[in-house]
Amino acid sequence: MKAAVLYQANQPLEVGEVELDPPRRGEVLVRIAAAGICRSDYHYMKGEARMELPAVLGHEGSAVVEAVGEGVTRVRPGDHVILSFAPHCGQCFYCLRGRGNLCEVSMVQTGGKMFDGTTRLHLGSTRITHMGKVACFAEQAVVPETGCIPIPRELPLDSAALIGCCVTTGVGAVINTARIEPGSTVAVVGCGGVGVNVIQGAHLSNAARIIAVDPLEGKLEFAMKFGATDSVNPTSADPVAAVKALTGGRGVDYAFEVFGSSETVRVAFDMTRRGGTTVVVGLAPLGDAAPIDASALVRQEKTLKGSYYGSSVPAVDMLRMVQMYRAGVLKIDDQVTRRYSLDQINRAYADLERGEPGRGVITFG
Ligand code: APR
Ligand code: ZN
Repeated sequence: MKAAVLYQANQPLEVGEVELDPPRRGEVLVRIAAAGICRSDYHYMKGEARMELPAVLGHEGSAVVEAVGEGVTRVRPGDHVILSFAPHCGQCFYCLRGRGNLCEVSMVQTGGKMFDGTTRLHLGSTRITHMGKVACFAEQAVVPETGCIPIPRELPLDSAALIGCCVTTGVGAVINTARIEPGSTVAVVGCGGVGVNVIQGAHLSNAARIIAVDPLEGKLEFAMKFGATDSVNPTSADPVAAVKALTGGRGVDYAFEVFGSSETVRVAFDMTRRGGTTVVVGLAPLGDAAPIDASALVRQEKTLKGSYYGSSVPAVDMLRMVQMYRAGVLKIDDQVTRRYSLDQINRAYADLERGEPGRGVITFG
């Protein structure tokens, strides 16, 4: 089957034939329907995040089940599913505490391999790793059973793909990680695919003020369609001063960092009011340390916290997203602004880098 393979950082993805072995116990073979163009894959392409290479990237996807391995009970052939890039083992320290998104067997011990420590992807004798155990920049994938979230068949599969990362990550950061109160003031630093969903999460949580911060005017305009009430362009004004000016000189109750850099983490922290909360969603390059004012942390009693996959329980939260989408509370179709074939994947990433508003999606067949 055809897949986009990263052989080396800072080289284009190579689209070509790779081998995919059948699903083993607890695994599922799926045919990918749609895969979103997220910056997390790009971090690996640029060498800002590392995993064993070669790898098939792609972690935001929807699919149709083709076959199941031994012992699989959650899905059957023909089911439509959203893929979760944080499949959980169910038995580790974190899983037992209901924090499957932090599963240590999945993330620490096996990473881009299946739960048994091997890969299903290979090219001859060269093993190929699976990003997030999902690897959906490919026609097919073998994924752990807990990485498959079954959804109703009526759901359009390209919108469903977005629930696999940007929607759940963004909305979850607001409703699970921060749990903002109605009437809150919110700033969102970075209004790309994930940031737009932080904005939506704040909007559906009845935030009073949602300030979009992004250097690209097109992104700021796009953000207004999803609930932003104000916008700040950091290339024309100091974003911290501008956000304070919009909030009576105090700063916001909640600032979300959704780009991934030490500088934007600092900016988000500095624009948070006394007693407020900064939530970091973006993945900064490996080893990057943010300059946090340590005495302000104490004297101003700020809270600084990370949010991974929207602090979600995918099997619960993704279905919540589905419900909100069907109820018209969550806009997903309008987020998809570009469609590509798998062969066009490098162009899709060039468009992300250039800063086209909205999400790009690879569609198959
Ligand atoms: N200040 C504010 N926004 C910025 C800045 C800055 N200094 N620099 C870049 N941005 C904006 C970009 O213009 C873009 O709109 O950040 C946004 C990032 O959006 P995308 O490229 O669409 O990335 P996305 O897929 O949303 O991922 C964002 O979340 O899950 C993580 O790994 C992911 O770190 C990444 C982050
Ligand atoms: Zn993602």
